[in-house]
Amino acid sequence: MEVIVDCDTGIDDAFALMYLTAHPQVTIVAAGSIWGNVPAAPAALNTLRVLELCGAGGVPVAVGAATPLAKAFIPYDGVHGADGLGNTGQPAPAGGPAAGSAAEQLVRLAREHPGRLTVVATGPLTNVALAHLLEPRLSTLLNRVVVMGGAVDAPGNVTALAEANIWGDPEAAKLVLNSGLAVTLVGLDVTMGVLLEEEALRVRRDRSAAGAFASAVAKQYFDFYEPRTLRRAAPPHDLVAAVLAVEPELATYDQATVEVLTSDDTARGKTVVDRRSWADRTGPVSVARTVDAERILRTWMDALDSLP
Ligand code: BDR
Ligand code: CA
Repeated sequence: MEVIVDCDTGIDDAFALMYLTAHPQVTIVAAGSIWGNVPAAPAALNTLRVLELCGAGGVPVAVGAATPLAKAFIPYDGVHGADGLGNTGQPAPAGGPAAGSAAEQLVRLAREHPGRLTVVATGPLTNVALAHLLEPRLSTLLNRVVVMGGAVDAPGNVTALAEANIWGDPEAAKLVLNSGLAVTLVGLDVTMGVLLEEEALRVRRDRSAAGAFASAVAKQYFDFYEPRTLRRAAPPHDLVAAVLAVEPELATYDQATVEVLTSDDTARGKTVVDRRSWADRTGPVSVARTVDAERILRTWMDALDSLP
């Protein structure tokens, strides 16, 4: 399976990248960075750092959009630390970003690999929306876009109603979810039910460089989530989306039309699915409804154990 990762790396983005590099059936063809947890330029460097750590330093990483489509970039709070990787002072990557923008790279690779690429998008959807605007046939050129984003029935996280990735660029999300692309939406409805324990990483700290990295960067994440989950455990949102991109059978889905609210009020960034009993259930988006949390966590642990 050939994958392009579009990410704002980010602790859980890092875990998603690590899982994908470790999976024997996955080839990461390229990555694009997007602003979100950190601005797009440092997100590209974090992505390179993680890929190099996992022995995938040859993967091209293009810098993506610096701002959302319509409104100014409002940085998130301290979920991932100022550097995006838990303020752990990671060394700079050996390599640098690839030429061109993430959206241009996505269009070029989609044309070169028609029907084969799956995009795993774990940040705001600006790059994917820009790629769709650059290449209106994108929906026929990509296999699928698996998005970590949204809160359909669950509460939001960045606001009472909105999940951070969708809230970051609702106009882009609206475009992507209604573009004809085959999209899987992996939102807080399922990711909040997958709780990774700090202890599971701690015991891997001395086993490998990847284990040491995962354990170190995640401390900040567990600090952030502890008051919310009431234990040293946290939902690795982006990792869940990455696992479902490769192992979709670990979830159940509704076929739905997803509306993204772009109004300039407290509903901004809310993802809405019509739950009325007579509503259309043949919409274009596969919305993850339930997940096998235990198997997702086990598959992540197996991946981590296989990394150098
Ligand atoms: C999403 O927001 C980011 O902070 C995480 O990396 C994840 O992509 C969760 O709402
Ligand atoms: Ca992310």
